[in-house]
Amino acid sequence: MLKNKNILLGVTGGIAAYKSPGICSLLRKQGAEVKVVMTENATKFVTPLTFQTMSNNVCHLEMFNQLFNMDVEHISLAKWADIIVIAPATANVIGKFANGISDDMLTTILMASRCPVMIAPGMNTVMLNSKANQNNLDILKERGVIVLDTATDILACNDYGSGKMLEPKEIVNEIDTALAKKDLKGKNIVITAGPTIEPLDPVRYLTNHSSGKMGYALAENAKKRGAKVTLISGPTTIQVPKVDNFVSVKTTRDMFEAVGEFFDKADVLIKSAAPADYRPKHYSDEKIKKTAQGDLDNIEMEKNPDIALHYGALKKNQIIVGFAAESTNIYQYAKEKLDKKNFDMIVVNNIKKEGAGFGTDTNIVSIIDKNSTTDLEIMSKKELANEILDRVQKLMS
Ligand code: PMT
Repeated sequence: MLKNKNILLGVTGGIAAYKSPGICSLLRKQGAEVKVVMTENATKFVTPLTFQTMSNNVCHLEMFNQLFNMDVEHISLAKWADIIVIAPATANVIGKFANGISDDMLTTILMASRCPVMIAPGMNTVMLNSKANQNNLDILKERGVIVLDTATDILACNDYGSGKMLEPKEIVNEIDTALAKKDLKGKNIVITAGPTIEPLDPVRYLTNHSSGKMGYALAENAKKRGAKVTLISGPTTIQVPKVDNFVSVKTTRDMFEAVGEFFDKADVLIKSAAPADYRPKHYSDEKIKKTAQGDLDNIEMEKNPDIALHYGALKKNQIIVGFAAESTNIYQYAKEKLDKKNFDMIVVNNIKKEGAGFGTDTNIVSIIDKNSTTDLEIMSKKELANEILDRVQKLMS
C-alpha cells in the first residue's frame, strides 16, 4: 500500500522517459507523495513542467539552485524519500551509480541516500548486455539495489530484443512490493478465489458471477507481505498474481480436493471463492437437445461438498477466514456461518449494495469475528485485502 509513502522518481535520458509521467500518475492515484528529479538529458525527451504538473511538486534539475531554497537540497531529498526509483535508468546513469560518480543532482542524491533504491533499465539490447553494463548491474545488485527486469519487444531503435523498460503499472507494482511490510513472512497462506463451474453437457454449465478479484487481491497482498501463497482458483479472466502455487480448478469437487492437498500445512485458509453449491446430477456426453426427452426443463441437481464446513471441522491451528455473499439478514446469516463452519472471522458483503460483491473493483463489507462486528466503508478490493490480512496477522500474533 503506497498511501503516504514518499517516492523520489529519478528520470534519465532515454526514450522510455515518455512513460515516466505515467508512473508518477499511478503513484499519486495510490496516495503516494512523489517528487521528481530529472537529469539534463531527460529534459530533451520530456519537459520538467510535465513532471511538475503530474507530481504536484517542483521538479528538481540543478545542483546549484540555492537562491530559491535554504535547504541543502540533495541531502533533504535523500532524507525525505522512502524509496528512490530511477525509471528509465540509462547505461550512463547505471555506470555512474555503480562507480560512485555524482556529478549532477540525481547521482548526488543517490550518493547521499540510505533508503532502498530501485532501477528500471531502458536501453538497446546490445547496450543492456554489454560487459560494462552487466558488470555495473552486478555491482548494484550486490549492494542491494533492486534491479528490475526489462521486457523483450521491438525497441525504439527498431531492433527486436530485451531492454524495453517495464510498463508503469508493473513498476508501480514492484515499488509496492518493495515497500510492503513483511509481517507475513514464513506463513503458509491458502486462498480460494473465483467461481466454480458445473458442466451439464459439452456446451452448458452452471456458475455464478464471481470474477476472482477479491481472492486475487488477497493473494497479491499476502505475497507482497512475505507469505508463501497458494492460490486455488476457479475459471477467471483476470491476470493471475505472482504466487508460489497456482492451482486452477473447474468444479467445486476439484476445489475441495485442491484445498485438501494444502490444508494440513496451511497457517491460514481464506475462503473467498464462490463455489457452486449444486451440480447437475447427470452429465451428458452429447449436447442435450431442447426438444428431446429429458430435455432442459427438468435438470436434476445434487449437492456439492461444502469445502469450508469440511475443513473447518478438521481445523487444528489454522486460522480460517470465510466470506459470505448475502442479500438479506446479512449479520444473522454471517454469524451462523461463522459458527457452523468454525471460521475465526467472516467477511460479509451485501451483494445488493452498489460497489459491493461480485465483479466490482470495490467492496463494502462487515467483518465479524467471535467478539466483534466492524462495518467498513466502501474501499477497493486491494485495500480491503490489506485490511483483512492486517486482522489475520493480529489473530496469529
Ligand atoms: O470474485 P469477486 O467478483 O471479486 O467477488 C467476491 C465474492 C463476492 C465472490 C466474495 O467476496 C465472496 O463473498 N465469496 C463467498 C461467496 C459465497 O460462496 O458465499 P456463501 O455464503 O455461499 O459461502 C460461505 C462460505 O463458504 C464462503 O467462504 C465460501 O467460499 C464457502 N463455501 C461455500 C459453498 C461451498 N460449497 N463450499 C464452500 O467452501
